[in-house]
Amino acid sequence: QLNVLHKFKGILFSTMSSEELLNSLDSFDAREDDVFLVSYPKSGTHWVAEVIGSIPNAKMTVTSPIEFGDISKFEELKMHSKRRVIPTHLNYDMLPRNIKQNQCKIIYVIRNPKDTAVSLFHYYRDNPNLPCIETWAVFLELFLRGDVVYGSWFDHVLSWEKHKDNKNILIISYEEMKKDLSKSIRKMTTFLDINVSDSEINKIAWKTSFNEMKNNAAKENHDANHTICALTSNRNLVFRKGAVGDWINYFTSKQKRVFDELFTQRMKHSELANHFED
Ligand code: PPS
Repeated sequence: QLNVLHKFKGILFSTMSSEELLNSLDSFDAREDDVFLVSYPKSGTHWVAEVIGSIPNAKMTVTSPIEFGDISKFEELKMHSKRRVIPTHLNYDMLPRNIKQNQCKIIYVIRNPKDTAVSLFHYYRDNPNLPCIETWAVFLELFLRGDVVYGSWFDHVLSWEKHKDNKNILIISYEEMKKDLSKSIRKMTTFLDINVSDSEINKIAWKTSFNEMKNNAAKENHDANHTICALTSNRNLVFRKGAVGDWINYFTSKQKRVFDELFTQRMKHSELANHFED
């Protein structure tokens, strides 16, 4: 059955044999020049992947995720000759050890958790690989309990925030990309030590705008080689609204209060929390 999730180390995964898979991740061979693109689901993974994949002369290739659950995909990862950009939704503690030992560069993408929850709610409804959830109210409870795929947003973000001062980790937010995409792209190219002119940056920003990406996804055939999220290979499911603040159309005032209380409690020592003040 496709839409059954499995718990591994207390976290829900969509892959069939997550335990076996994640154990085998320990044998994953990270290369020193690998770049990992990490995020909680629905935080802007495809967007950042498109940005990085569009950098001219970067000689980088965006691969399928490490936790894909498909051994042939895992084997394929080893074959890439270009510098690999490897997406994953894993939290810090589950990331294979040798990625950390090799000091690989990591871009961690974060997004306002209320918008992330709304986006994930739609994804549950649209994606046949995920369980069916009747209402927003039911989904929100699951989200707040961390009973959704890849677990609690809070646990995920906090696991990564502990390492935010590591010079190999760049944290970038969905909201800052929306505000000034060219500036965010510059931040990424600088972090990756790639020389790019201003006009090239502007071209990338145009190419990676929401409408452009959404239209291109609609034109493409569904191609598993494009899969950068373990939850689906259908890119059409990814581009929904692409907005900041859509949560306001879903949260009742009571739901907002409950959410904010949990947020304050869980994020009280977090510096990233300031970024998400409504
Ligand atoms: S996944 O499947 O978990 O990897 O999803 P992910 O790519 O992380 O996040 C999907 C959300 O990102 C939005 N998106 C964009 N927003 C603005 N600009 C661009 N170019 C863009 N590309 C993707 C996408 O629409 C999803 O958010 P929602 O709020 O559902 O629209």
